[in-house]
Amino acid sequence: MCGIVGYVGRQKAATILLEGLKRLEYRGYDSAGLAVLQNGRIDFAKKTGRVGNLVKEAKNHHFTGTTGISHTRWATHGGVTDANAHPHLSSDDKFALVHNGVIENYSSIKKFLVSQGYTFKSETDTEVLCNLIAYHYAKEPADVGESRFLESVRKALRHVEGTYGIAVICPEAPGELVAARKGSPLILGVGDNEFIVASDVAALISHTQNVVYLKDGEVVHVTPKEFFISTLDQEDVSPVVDRVTWDIEAAELNGYAHFMEKEIFEQPAALENSMRGRFSEDGSTAKFGGLNLGPVEFRQIDRFVFLGCGTAWHACLVAEHLLERFARVPAEADYASEFRYRNAPLSGNPLFFVFSQSGETIDTLGALREAKRKGYKVLAVNNTVGSTIARETDGGIYQYVGPEIGVASTKAFTSQLLIGAMLALHVARMRDMSFADGVEYVNALKGVPALVRHVLEQAPRIKEIAHRYAHHTDFLFLGRLSLFPIALEGALKLKEISYIHAEGYPAAEMKHGPIALISEKCPSVFFAPKGEIFNKLVSSIQEVKARRGPAIVITTEGCEFPPGLADDIITIPDCHEAVLPIVATIPVQLLSYYIACARKCDVDKPRNLAKSVTVE
Ligand code: AGP
Repeated sequence: MCGIVGYVGRQKAATILLEGLKRLEYRGYDSAGLAVLQNGRIDFAKKTGRVGNLVKEAKNHHFTGTTGISHTRWATHGGVTDANAHPHLSSDDKFALVHNGVIENYSSIKKFLVSQGYTFKSETDTEVLCNLIAYHYAKEPADVGESRFLESVRKALRHVEGTYGIAVICPEAPGELVAARKGSPLILGVGDNEFIVASDVAALISHTQNVVYLKDGEVVHVTPKEFFISTLDQEDVSPVVDRVTWDIEAAELNGYAHFMEKEIFEQPAALENSMRGRFSEDGSTAKFGGLNLGPVEFRQIDRFVFLGCGTAWHACLVAEHLLERFARVPAEADYASEFRYRNAPLSGNPLFFVFSQSGETIDTLGALREAKRKGYKVLAVNNTVGSTIARETDGGIYQYVGPEIGVASTKAFTSQLLIGAMLALHVARMRDMSFADGVEYVNALKGVPALVRHVLEQAPRIKEIAHRYAHHTDFLFLGRLSLFPIALEGALKLKEISYIHAEGYPAAEMKHGPIALISEKCPSVFFAPKGEIFNKLVSSIQEVKARRGPAIVITTEGCEFPPGLADDIITIPDCHEAVLPIVATIPVQLLSYYIACARKCDVDKPRNLAKSVTVE
């Protein structure tokens, strides 16, 4: 939440900062701002609304400086106003600061600073931190061995409770920038005599693929020629420069109207990438390089616990189902946000998996830390190399689906479903699954990109259905077993991007309450694939139809329904149970996407949401 970008180098900072902000806009879009060092002072512009508003505003300034910082905001402290937009300046105008995170003890610090004569223009916690740096700077002897600027930032941060990714500039230190992180992501891009700090690789990838992933508690001091990393306690840190494996192409729309659309259609390739090199030579099981667990250790696991938030939690629910169904081992999925405070009794030898696309979700990170604190091994299914979760887990499985920029998760979700299915196979083959069943399962996994492609070909028809239903204000999504989580996901997708009220339920639960909502005004989306409970699902659809509820039915090719039962039928190919959730997800992604477009919603930047939720 919130994106920050800072630049030190030879080019005009404002151009690079605005370009970076556009790429980080998915992190928050309440307001945006930038500040540049020029003519011995800080020049700045900030505006509520999208980065586009800031771009217009910036034209009224003559930004020529080569050092600057910028921010796109997802409001926490203080309303969405120009005054609360970042950057914030200290009341002596000696510092400008951008911040992603929450300073929890800002109110006591503010009280102290007011007593010292500092004044405030905004309601934000960030302005407090900026003035605290100014306070330490004023107290710091001018001949301090290291940079006085750097040391003032460090001193201020030692008093701060909460989370931050910050970038600071100071006109008395021209050409310098100090950035630091705790609990919020921060990456340093290392270019040729230029450096960019940013909350996400997307903001700097068009300038350099060489990056340093800063760790919590680290501070980087950047000049046009070099950078130094240290801790708040002044210990030097040797930097590790990594190379990002994807390039700017992956973060472009490439002709699609929205990133969500692009990412839906990228799924066949994304799924290929998630499974590449991950099958045994005999073709009967899945293998993973990063689990850091030997087969003997693996066999001793008596329970799997999957933790995640939002869409990632839905993937956890499917993983739970597949582990129990195929590996016959107890498994459970829990909201990471609940697990971290629930103090659940744990016994035996469980193995934890956290699922997170971004690797920065604070609740998932909190759950991970809680499980580790209790002495358990925690692995991750994660899409972001260098993320905090990737660093703090004991191992895991990277998704390799490339950057997911649309706020509504799509390709990361189906990739997590796939990895869950592969994990179930891996465990099943260590237990009771036969070689022949393993080979059949592997072939099903390998065939899933083609099946997804096949469903994507139905996009024009799903679009037509979406247009007919787009005026409704309530929807139910109903499914059973491994498709109950897909019902939850369908409902979440729809409400996230089109603001339509939607609920996901196990189909048989519908008659225990939600049936009261059914009328001609409330369509139900049913998952009714072939299988042993097909007839039960048909009965649930009958119950809806008996109450004049419109029914959109997603079913497998070859299934037949009594005439007139379904108002619209979307067919998916018949497939192995392990990949059914993946294949069944595609129609609801398309349905919600086209409904949102028909309602003229801002699909990639839905109101109130941010891509990675780094506050509790
Ligand atoms: C998905 O469409 C949502 N935007 C959201 O639920 C998301 O999946 C959740 O916040 C978890 O994010 P993560 O995978 O990055 O941890």
